[in-house]
Amino acid sequence: RDKNQVKLANWLLTSKSTIVLTGAGMSTESNLPDFRSKEGWWRSIDPITVAAPEALDNNYELFTDFYTARLEALEGTAPHEGHQVIADWEERGFVDAVATQNVDGLHTAAGSKNVYELHGSLKNIYCHNCGAKAAPSDFKAKRKCGVCGGKLRPGVILFGEMLPQEAWNTALSRIKSASLIIVIGTSLEVYPANQLPLLASGRTVYLNAEVSSSGQDFDLVLEGKAKTIITEVQRIMHEA
Ligand code: NAD
Ligand code: APR
Repeated sequence: RDKNQVKLANWLLTSKSTIVLTGAGMSTESNLPDFRSKEGWWRSIDPITVAAPEALDNNYELFTDFYTARLEALEGTAPHEGHQVIADWEERGFVDAVATQNVDGLHTAAGSKNVYELHGSLKNIYCHNCGAKAAPSDFKAKRKCGVCGGKLRPGVILFGEMLPQEAWNTALSRIKSASLIIVIGTSLEVYPANQLPLLASGRTVYLNAEVSSSGQDFDLVLEGKAKTIITEVQRIMHEA
C-alpha cells in the first residue's frame, strides 16, 4: 500500500470538516483538456485572445469558436470514477464541499451537492450587454441576444473579471475553518483561487500529476493521476 494514500485515507476518516479544491486536472481523465499541461488549451491558444473580456470586443469570432469547441467537447463527456468517489465521500460525510475552478459541471453531474464554482459555468450563457439569459444552442448558432441584440457569452469568469461573490466567500470561509483541504488537479497558477490553500488553517494535501511547480508547501503530497489515486484511497477507506 502507498503510505501517503494510507495517510490520506486516515485523514479523511478522522477529519471533522474537509473541503476539496479542484482544477482542470480533475477533468482530463474525462477527456477535457487542461490549460497548462503539454496538451493544455494554452499551449495552442494565447489566453488573452479568448479568456479576457477584451476578446469580446477585439475578436468575437475566435471567442465564440473557442467556447463553442469547449461546449461541444463537454457534450461527449461524463464524470469519471474520481468525481463519483468525491460525491460518495460527501454522501458519507467525509467531505463537506467541493470548491472548483472548473466550469464543466462534472462534480455536480457525479452527484456532489455542495459545489462552489469559483470560475462560473460554461453552460450558463447570457448577454454580455444586458445580462439576459440564453441557451447554449443560441451561442453555438452565433445568435445575438434576443432582448437587446448584444453579444452572447458563457458564464465563465475571464481573466481580470470578478469571481462570483457568493461562491468565493463561501469557499473562502469554509476553507479557512476546515480541518482538511485536499487540492486536486490544479497548477495553482491563477489568482485568487491559488491563494486558498495558503489560507487553510487545517491540514493541506496536494494531489497532482506534476507536484514540483506549485511553489506552495503542503502537509502531504501525492503525485499521480487523480482518478487512480482517489479510487485507491477509497479502497483503503473501505478496508479500514
Ligand atoms: P490573472 O488574470 O490570472 O488573475 C488576476 C485576476 O483574474 C483576478 O482579478 C482574478 O479575480 C481574475 N480571475 C478570475 N477568474 C479567473 C479565471 N478563471 N482565470 C484567471 N483569472 C481569473 O492574473 P495572473 O495571476 O497574473 O495570471 C495571468 C496569466 O499569467 C495566467 O495565464 C496565469 O496562469 C499566468 N501566470 C500567473 C501566475 C501567478 O502567480 N498569478 C504565475 C505564472 C503564470
Ligand atoms: N491527475 C492529476 N493531475 C492532473 C491530471 C490528472 N489526470 N491531468 C492534469 N493534471 C495536472 C497538471 O499537471 C496541472 O498541474 O493538473 C494541473 C492543471 O493545471 P492547469 O492546466 O493550470 O489548470 P487550472 O489550475 O485548473 O487553471 C486555473 O486558469 O485558465 C484559467 O480559468 C482557467 O480555471 C482555470 C485556471
